[in-house]
This record gives sequence, C-alpha cells and structure tokens, in this order.
Amino acid sequence: MNSIKKKLKRYLHDKNQIVCITCYDSSFSKILNDLEIDIVLVGDSLGMVIKGEDNTHSVTVDEIIYHSTCVAKNKKNFIMMADMPINSYENPDSAYLNSRKLLDNNIDIVKLEYQDKHKPVIEKLIEKNIPVCAHIGLLPQTAFEKKDLRVYGREIEEKDRLIRQAKNLEALGVDILLLECVHEEVTKVITGSVDIPVIGIGSGESCNGQVQVLYDILGISNNPPKFSKDYLQDAGSIRDAIKNFSNYVKNIK
Ligand code: KIV
Repeated sequence: MNSIKKKLKRYLHDKNQIVCITCYDSSFSKILNDLEIDIVLVGDSLGMVIKGEDNTHSVTVDEIIYHSTCVAKNKKNFIMMADMPINSYENPDSAYLNSRKLLDNNIDIVKLEYQDKHKPVIEKLIEKNIPVCAHIGLLPQTAFEKKDLRVYGREIEEKDRLIRQAKNLEALGVDILLLECVHEEVTKVITGSVDIPVIGIGSGESCNGQVQVLYDILGISNNPPKFSKDYLQDAGSIRDAIKNFSNYVKNIK
C-alpha cells in the first residue's frame, strides 16, 4: 500500500475528521500548511474563483499543473489532491496520461467526477496505482442546468444509485469518496457502508470530513452555494477564519 493510501486509512482508523480546502496559490497554501489542513484540493473551481468564468469547463490540465506548482511551494504536511478537468478523462488512456502528468507535478491523488460510464477509467487508474478520489452526487462539470443544482438522493432511485456507486467504487479500489450535495441520510448510509474515507460538501455531517472552496469560507466568492458559511465575518483575519472552519470540522462528532 503506498503512503497516501496508508495516510487516508489512518484517518478512518483514528476517527479523525478530515479537513479539506481548495487552494490555487502559494500564499494561501502557506497558511493551509501552517494550520495543518489535511487535504488541499487544487479544484477546477478555479474556473470560477480565479478565472471569473461561469463554470469549470475552460479549465485545462496545464492550468491545474500551473496552480499545483504554486500551491506545492509550501507543501510540507498536507496531501495534495487535484481535479481532473472535464475532457481529461474521457477514456482510460487519456485518463491515465493526464493523471500521470498531475502525479509528476506534485499531486498525490487525482479527483474525477464519476458517472457509471467511467468504470473502465477507474479500473485503469487503479491498475496503474494512481490514487483516486471519486466525486459523486452533484457533478459541477456536467451540471448544465439550474435544475441540476440541487440535493441528490431524495428519491429512492437516486438514493439507491448513489449507494451502489459508492460501494462499487470502493470495490474497484478508489481511495476516497467525495459527496457533493448528497442528502444527509444517504451520506450516513454511504459512510456506514464503505471502509474508505468519505468527505462531503453540502452533504451533512455524518461523513469522515468536510471539503469547502477556500473563497466561499472567506466570503469572497461571487456566487457562493447556500450551504457555505463566511468564516471571515466573525474572525479577525484570514488565518483565524480558516482555523475556525478547521476547528468546526475537527469537532464534528
Ligand atoms: O473544484 C472544486 O473546488 C471541487 C469542490 C466543489 C469539492 O470539486
């Protein structure tokens, strides 16, 4: 088992809540490193919060690598995860090539937005020992319409699909699951059914950790989701705001 897989398993074993925050540059990554944030995600949310686009679609692998290089300047303690941008994992070969590029550029674990058609992609990455986070629930890369921006798993069919996907992904060998806007009851079932860490965003508190977009918790995103909270409002500094978010996550029972 490689060291990232071991580190992730340790979170489960020690029952520590995982704190994951997005980051795109070295100034913020210094703060995240000092505050011992567990996982730093170079997310394709950079399409919105850095590039000012409406969605993640214009983000490229090279841009993820550029921002990863900036973030990695202060990487001492955290695990570094990065998004595979849309169109970078259409088939097993392109997924392997692009994930390899990310791993060759400071990234420890790649994240992709999983639909059932991606099973062969996951199989290839696992076969090649690429650590993988599978993102399920709301998938921003393919949430084209307003109606797609909702809570997932309220209806029985969707609930069953999410639980099945989570179990299948664990069986395939993915290292971590990320649930976005998954109904909290479904989050609870998934977290209780798999033996890999489950982190959530807008998915309730019954998972093994929380992930947030840095600019949302600092209250500086143009269009923050309903579930995000501005931690800067009550804190005296950016550092304290991030620390308060981290303390909130670490104290979830
Ligand atoms: O790109 C990103 O920031 C993400 C989070 C919403 C989890 O994928």
